[in-house]
Amino acid sequence: MNGDSDKARRNLQRARAITGSDDARSVYAQWAASYDRDVFSTLRVTGTDTIADLLYDHTGDIGVARVLDAGCGTGAVAARLKAHGFDQIDGVDLSPEMLKIADAKQLYRTLVEADLNQPLDLPHSPYTAIVSAGTFTTGHVGADGFHNLFAHLQANGLMACVIANPVWQRDRFDGLIDNMPVEVVTNRIEATIPDAEPDAHMLVLRRN
Ligand SMILES: C[S@@+](CC[C@H](N)C(=O)[O-])C[C@H]1O[C@@H](n2cnc3c(N)ncnc32)[C@H](O)[C@@H]1O
Repeated sequence: MNGDSDKARRNLQRARAITGSDDARSVYAQWAASYDRDVFSTLRVTGTDTIADLLYDHTGDIGVARVLDAGCGTGAVAARLKAHGFDQIDGVDLSPEMLKIADAKQLYRTLVEADLNQPLDLPHSPYTAIVSAGTFTTGHVGADGFHNLFAHLQANGLMACVIANPVWQRDRFDGLIDNMPVEVVTNRIEATIPDAEPDAHMLVLRRN
């Protein structure tokens, strides 16, 4: 393993050990500058593109879709969605440092600094789609955040989220989605890093 790879893995492990929102702000403040290089060039994380592609596969009229990218970080989901032709994308994240990098890429209509674990005040709600990658993971956001976001999804809207296995099990997502007014469009478990064990659900729901 080379130095870059070591450092990227250490940063990823530190993020997976986050203990709550204050810790998340501090970890991502330190990681923001090297996040894109570590995650996408060095570790070649795939979950971000996969969930954006799944949203694209199931969205009827991309031209009118209004998308919220939850835990948008530096903007990687929006970059993929833009390449697919999506144009109206808003982002929400709790890290000002990650949002600053996303903002510089000029991918988003609006960026909001907010904690997904709290009820959300979003100026352009409701959305035709909500997408999230890398955010439903240990120490970050769980079932409460999922419900907070769902409140901003319009009828027939799509919710496409990567949900790490430990969060899926801890927060009993099987039962949770059984009790929501949704149709399950996709729910498959796969690896989010090449050659790793399957570690996350690729979940796409349509709101009734
Ligand atoms: C692993 S990054 C994923 C970023 C981006 N979605 C991607 O695929 O590259 C997780 C993001 O979730 C954000 N985050 C963590 N906890 C959060 C919370 N409670 N509310 C909002 N955002 C949060 C972090 O600031 C970070 O930008």
